[in-house]
Amino acid sequence: MSFIIIAIDGPSGVGKSTIARKLAAELSCVYVDTGAMFRCLALSWGKQGCPESDLSLKKLGEQTRIYFEASKTFCDEVDVTDEIRSEDISSLASKISLFPSIREVMKKKQRALVKEECEAGNYKGAVLEGRDIGTVVFPSADHKFYIDASPEIRAERRYLQLREQNVNTNFQEILSALLERDHQDKNRSLAPLRAAEDAIIVDTGNMNIDEVMQHLLESVDRTKIYA
Ligand code: DC
Repeated sequence: MSFIIIAIDGPSGVGKSTIARKLAAELSCVYVDTGAMFRCLALSWGKQGCPESDLSLKKLGEQTRIYFEASKTFCDEVDVTDEIRSEDISSLASKISLFPSIREVMKKKQRALVKEECEAGNYKGAVLEGRDIGTVVFPSADHKFYIDASPEIRAERRYLQLREQNVNTNFQEILSALLERDHQDKNRSLAPLRAAEDAIIVDTGNMNIDEVMQHLLESVDRTKIYA
């Protein structure tokens, strides 16, 4: 039996999660937030004092159990959905994602998760979002999308979102943090953020979520889902 694999890559704060989650629901696919997986590892890594030896990192990667259930993220049986969204964890996740041994373990974990979920018969395939899904984790994905928007637009969306939540915030600070993460994601030597050659690039600058969804759905070949 074959399953449809949809890769969604793009920079931080571009709305990948919202889009990937909706697309997965629409297509009866499992949604895999690979950024959340790096964040879980970062959480465990921080608790262990951030050891950097290859052996410790490999062990950490292999032994940390990460899974998703009803929109919640679990790390070693603990619900860490909110905890992994802190600024500290964002920064640690960005650091830990640079280690080759961690990237290798994560690639395996992500592939295994998709296989397990799909073979259990609950889904027709998987929608994964991250930075290197179409280029490294699933280079033969059925569909690849690269979602983009200018840093200014992404920072403004984040700023308005935080204001709405009554969080005291500053546009310039958000923009510089975002530019820094873009730089790190795009310039690292291993699995840097870039669009796969065969990815469809979607600039969401002037699009709302419904328009983005419509655009993506028009490009997806559903025959594999109903095969
Ligand atoms: O998407 P996010 O902001 O939750 O990702 C957290 C960190 O993990 C981010 O610094 C980039 C990294 N990451 C990665 O290197 N590869 C992925 N496929 C997903 C995330």
